[in-house]
Order: sequence, then C-alpha cells, then structure tokens
Amino acid sequence: MTDLFAPYQLGDLSLSNRLVMAPLTRNGAGVGEAPTELAAQYYGQRATAGLIVTEGTQPSAAGQGYPHTPGLHTDEQVAGWRLVADAVHARGGKVIAQLMHTGRISHSAIIGQQPVAPSAVTPDGEVYTEQGMQAFQEPRALETAELAGIVAEYVDAARRAVEAGLDGIELHAANGYLLQQFLSDSTNIRTDGYGGSPQNRARFVIEVASAVSEAIGAGRVGIGSRPGARSTTSPRPRPRRRTPPCSTGSRRSACCTCTSSKVPRPTSASRSASSGRGRSSSTPASPDRPTCGPRRPRSTAANPTCSASDGPSWPIPTWSSVCRPAPSSTSPTWRASTAAASTATPTTRP
Ligand SMILES: Cc1cc2nc3c(=O)[nH]c(=O)nc-3n(C[C@H](O)[C@H](O)[C@H](O)COP(=O)(O)O)c2cc1C
Repeated sequence: MTDLFAPYQLGDLSLSNRLVMAPLTRNGAGVGEAPTELAAQYYGQRATAGLIVTEGTQPSAAGQGYPHTPGLHTDEQVAGWRLVADAVHARGGKVIAQLMHTGRISHSAIIGQQPVAPSAVTPDGEVYTEQGMQAFQEPRALETAELAGIVAEYVDAARRAVEAGLDGIELHAANGYLLQQFLSDSTNIRTDGYGGSPQNRARFVIEVASAVSEAIGAGRVGIGSRPGARSTTSPRPRPRRRTPPCSTGSRRSACCTCTSSKVPRPTSASRSASSGRGRSSSTPASPDRPTCGPRRPRSTAANPTCSASDGPSWPIPTWSSVCRPAPSSTSPTWRASTAAASTATPTTRP
C-alpha cells in the first residue's frame, strides 16, 4: 500500500511526502506585483506538504488576469519569490511556481491593453477589476509571428523562478487560460499551424513546455491540465475533442497535475486496456497507479495519442504524475487545498 507520508522522487524534486498543495490565487502581491513577506509567511506555514504549487503567476505583464496577482518577469518579483523559496526551504518543503498567462480572461483595466488570445472569441461574463466587475472584452488574436515571443516570456519566467530559488514551475494549461485557450476548439479557431486538428491545437502548449524544459530541465517542469473540466467561461468541451497536453507529446515533464471531476474508477476491462499502451490522463487509473498521488515513471513506449505525424515530438523519457482529485474526494491532497483556500479571496477560481 502506498504510504502518503513516505518520501517521493518527482522528476528532479525529492519530496519529503506525497502531499501536494494545490495552486491558490490570493491577490495579495505587493508593489510591482511582487510577493511580500506575508506571502513568504503564508507559504512557509504550509511547507510540511511535500510540494507546494504556488498561486497562478503571470509570466508577463500582459498575462495578468486579476488584480494583485504576482508576476515572474521583473527583478523585484524575483526578490519577492526568493523570500517565499527561503521560507519554504527553511522548513524542508519544496515549492514550484505556477505560470499562469490568462490570455483572454483579462481586461484592459487590469493590463492597460487589449487582452490577447489564440482567436478573437470574447468570453461570456465579467471579470473583476479594481473598478468593479466589467464585461469581458474581445481579445486580439495573436499573430503567428508573435507566438515565439510568448514562448520566450514563459522561458524567461521559468529562469527567473530558478534564479529566485524556487524548485521548478508548473504550466497552467487549464481553467480557460491562455494555454487551454489554444487547446480548446471553442476558443481556438485559428487557420494556421496552431489551430484545427488536436495536434495543431496542442502545438503551442508543447512548444512552451519544450522551451521551458530546455531552459531549466524537464525534471523541474510540470503541466497542470484538467481534461474535460468546465473552464472559467466556456462550456465543457465535447469529449471527442479533449486534448490534454499531458498526452500529446512523447516528451515527459516532471509532473502533470490533472484534476477532473470525471476521473473514472478502474474496472477490470480498463485495467487490462491500460496495461500496455500509453494512457491519457483522463483514462482510469490502474491499481499500481493511484488516481491521487505521485505516479511511477512510465515506459517510453510511444503513446498512440502522441505520435500523430503532424504533431511536435517530445524526446524526454521520464514521466511522473500527480493527480488532484475531485472535490467530493476525501483524499488528503484535496483537504490540503481546501484548508489553504480558506485564506484566499478571489472572486473566481483560477
Ligand atoms: C480561492 C481559489 C484559488 C484558486 N487558484 C488557483 C490557481 O491560481 N491556479 C489553479 O490552477 N487553480 C486554482 N484553484 C483551483 C485549485 O487549485 C483546485 O484545483 C481546486 O480548488 C480543487 O480542484 P477541483 O475543484 O478542480 O477538483 C483555486 C481554487 C480556489 C478555491
């Protein structure tokens, strides 16, 4: 039986136990959207978790979607994150920054410019700004030539995370933010190589993950995906169009955090089906790979969903995964995130 409190090697990270604190936006950044001493105290208090995934953190000023979320694109912010890293490490914990570019889930009242997105598809609803709730604006569709610059921003933020002493990064590819906007056929109606087929829609996420892995090492990079989950402002994607980035390349990142209210229980049929072939993160867990908790590295055998000829290829051969459970679960990981959420105050769930 898996021991929740046993140490675990997650990519390059040696965790003291298997508890992971979920990312929780706090809207508490200080001057220049830098983490404060209070943030260091908050994370330090929670450092007995094996791993903390920080609140969503913008890799660029244009990637901010809510007031006073922290960034990782200035020296001032790096100094703030260093306080956090030191506080967590002093108590034996590990902490990775969640890089969250919100794309179209933003407003010019927050970032001083029209939000960007894969396509000019306006979200339904309103966003919280310092001036109160405001209707979402039509985003500006990113030009193909601009995408390399966004990738470079993620790389810069990942490098800054390491410079600050953080243990790695998680790419937020869920909840309707920029990376998921590329994955979803309701928000990505591009006609270039980044739209259309599932492989094309996954291309940008894979390019970001590859570049960030190249920069700081894949063993310190994770991807947060919630395949099939309802996004902040979009309907649940049709099942046949689900494109979890965890399953769209042959490169393996250190961890893939997946939350789905639809993670099914293993059946004897699904157990045998999952024994020899690569599985997407939304397929049932096998007995030796619990739905919640770090997973064993899996083999380098090509995943059928990853080997489409028009998709980019990821050559890194290790894979571990931590799956966060649905809210109804009583697992400790859920309890950890629930406890931490009691001090958070955003009006939406990033
Ligand atoms: C106040 C609050 C803030 C959150 N902030 C983030 C965030 O910054 N990034 C993120 O990926 N998830 C965020 N979440 C989602 C949690 O990490 C977590 O996934 C969720 O609460 C429990 O998972 P589930 O409801 O999807 O199963 C937030 C949730 C709450 C309640």
